[in-house]
Amino acid sequence: MSDQSIVGELARRRRSVRRFKKNKFDLKIILECIDIAKEAPSGSNAQPWHFVVVENDRMKEELREVCENGEKKFYSNARGDLAEWLRKKGLTWKKEFLSNVPYIIAVFGYKKAPYSRESVWLAVGYLLLALEERGIASLTYTPPNRDEVAKLLKYPDDYRLEVLIPAGYEDGEKAREPRKNLDEIASLNYFGRKIDT
Ligand SMILES: Cc1cc2nc3c(=O)[nH]c(=O)nc-3n(C[C@H](O)[C@H](O)[C@H](O)COP(=O)(O)O)c2cc1C
Repeated sequence: MSDQSIVGELARRRRSVRRFKKNKFDLKIILECIDIAKEAPSGSNAQPWHFVVVENDRMKEELREVCENGEKKFYSNARGDLAEWLRKKGLTWKKEFLSNVPYIIAVFGYKKAPYSRESVWLAVGYLLLALEERGIASLTYTPPNRDEVAKLLKYPDDYRLEVLIPAGYEDGEKAREPRKNLDEIASLNYFGRKIDT
């Protein structure tokens, strides 16, 4: 499909990046992106998101240590398709990207809001594209032991940590992961009925 749209271009360009340069850049750029993310729709317009930007090196090291402790357990318990996928991707319990990155954006959701998780993840989608537009690479990293991780950030009980997003300039250039074709994922009127174009 040909597409001249800016959103289309950003969506097709964005990739999950796991190797960053440590180069700092202005915190204002991150705030600009959060300012865009907060425009996302949300259940009852509750806007249940909260973004904690971590730029302190010691805190990033602590986050990494706690995440890696959780990951060691996660990787030793992984079986079947998941274990195979992780092996193929060369992913391990080591999460260098949590300390070798200028910023980590921790995204929290207010648990009591209607459709809290759906709403927060929509805002995350906006955030990723806003970062991409500014040439900032990112990853949606979901630690297996999120409550332990969240404690380091002194979160209130009625919030839940959804994701850590390391954000910085990419080190190297990672290949894009493939996507399914449009006709595999869209139907007309009934699930599975092909759309003739
Ligand atoms: C909800 C969600 C959770 C994810 N959790 C992780 C994660 O914990 N660690 C990681 O390395 N990648 C994680 N990813 C990144 C996916 O592996 C990645 O988006 C997918 O392989 C497609 O690659 P791309 O983002 O480069 O297109 C997550 C992505 C999503 C949307």
